[in-house]
Amino acid sequence: MESAPAPITTTTTTALQDRVAIVTGASRGIGKAIALHLASLGAKLVINYSSPSSQSLAEQLVSQINSLSSSSSSSTTPRAIAVQADISDETQVISLFNTTEQTFNTSPHILVTSAGVLDSSYSTIFDLDVSEFDRIFSVNTRGTFLCIKEAAKRIKRGGGGRIVTISSSLAAGFREKFGAYTASKAAVEAMTKILAKELKGSGITVNAVAPGPIATEMFYAGKTEEMVQRAIDESPLKRLGKVEDVAPVVGFLVSDGGEWVNGQIIRVNGGYI
Ligand SMILES: NC(=O)c1ccc[n+]([C@@H]2O[C@H](COP(=O)([O-])OP(=O)(O)OC[C@H]3O[C@@H](n4cnc5c(N)ncnc54)[C@H](OP(=O)(O)O)[C@@H]3O)[C@@H](O)[C@H]2O)c1
Repeated sequence: MESAPAPITTTTTTALQDRVAIVTGASRGIGKAIALHLASLGAKLVINYSSPSSQSLAEQLVSQINSLSSSSSSSTTPRAIAVQADISDETQVISLFNTTEQTFNTSPHILVTSAGVLDSSYSTIFDLDVSEFDRIFSVNTRGTFLCIKEAAKRIKRGGGGRIVTISSSLAAGFREKFGAYTASKAAVEAMTKILAKELKGSGITVNAVAPGPIATEMFYAGKTEEMVQRAIDESPLKRLGKVEDVAPVVGFLVSDGGEWVNGQIIRVNGGYI
């Protein structure tokens, strides 16, 4: 006889209780879902975004997280804060970490680098403006470098320290018209694997999560209906990914149970690439 399905629960758990997580690019999309998921596991969250127009989205997310129940709800420190910082600017990245430490009175335990940009004109390499190439590398590659460099110096030693970069399955797919974006994420994957080795002895793990097409603003930007349909048709599961397909994978990597996964690129794409 089949057993009854497990009840769906919306209460928070304590797997990441009292751990502080910085999620870059968390005002929307994949970063937002990751932040919410880590909060549901008990973490305290720093919600990063860069443009002034994202401030209200980031603050809404902060309110949502601060309204979650918590076993330490008597504390006057909030569960989440929003911090504006352009991750391609070294001074702003340092300030992001300073604000985190000052607010929560501890070094961060977890960094997830979800902030990223895409060339939504989908140009070939020979048509791509150099300025667009520079913008993509500035945020995706330099920005990730600045964040993981700071995290490597500041994340708590001695177990439970986690760095997760967000790459893209395109870094293994070599699709035309994604030249700069793919190269920018391939560099992220290389730095991820190398940093995992450089942090030997620190107890900090470093992994990349590389999603396939996920239904977010970034995915839809500049795409025709035909391009969207092609992504669905090419998927073995016949659908686009959802942000909720990605967040639990990050949740596993940053939890204690994920410790033995280190220096890896985890492709989360439904079999797309
Ligand atoms: N969606 C997909 O199909 C897909 C697939 C594979 C990989 N990815 C990767 O997943 C990550 C998230 O993508 P998404 O689809 O969630 O994108 P999204 O919806 O466009 O969200 C991007 C986030 O990054 C922030 N951001 C952009 N530039 C920033 C900067 N310089 N400093 C700080 N924050 C910045 C944005 O905030 P502001 O607007 O305020 O700057 C926003 O919060 C990216 O790294 C992307 O490359 C996405």
